[in-house]
Amino acid sequence: MKSLAAVLYVLSLGTYQIIIVQALIPDSERKVLDCNVTGEWHSELGSQLHLSAVGPEVRGVYRTAVESTRGAAGPNREAKVVGVMSDGPQPTVAFSVLWAKGSCTTWVGQCFAVPGGGQVLNTLWMLRSAVTSFTDNWDSTRLGEDRFIFVRGVESP
Ligand SMILES: *[C@@H]1O[C@H](CO)[C@@H](O)[C@H](O)[C@H]1NC(C)=O
Repeated sequence: MKSLAAVLYVLSLGTYQIIIVQALIPDSERKVLDCNVTGEWHSELGSQLHLSAVGPEVRGVYRTAVESTRGAAGPNREAKVVGVMSDGPQPTVAFSVLWAKGSCTTWVGQCFAVPGGGQVLNTLWMLRSAVTSFTDNWDSTRLGEDRFIFVRGVESP
């Protein structure tokens, strides 16, 4: 189907007006841009995420700008990333990091191509801190939201 918009002619005050009804464009005819997770991403807090996708697996490095307690993320505040992703133009992604002092974080989200250019990775995360006994379990876990902006892809050699 070539026509993406229905055009209605409405008689008003003796002149014809054209109203283009965008809402009548079916979902199947809207172009979905690809979102490529491979590259460098920055969170709203300034954390840096380097991801590389190979099939359904993602690997990389996370350098956090924040930590729950001083030193929790290690001297460089940097750790390995291991995760999975779906196929398709805007993949769902889940990835995890184990921090130097034994806490771990998991993010789950989806990669979106933004109309007009750019990519975002919208995620929710949970951070588990190690506690010394089960009576401390109740305040062991934090929950939040991270939005990563795509900064650059990986240059080909
Ligand atoms: C994603 O981008 C990388 C370069 O950053 C490229 O090597 C790879 O082929 C791209 N993947 C897809 C599915 O286009």
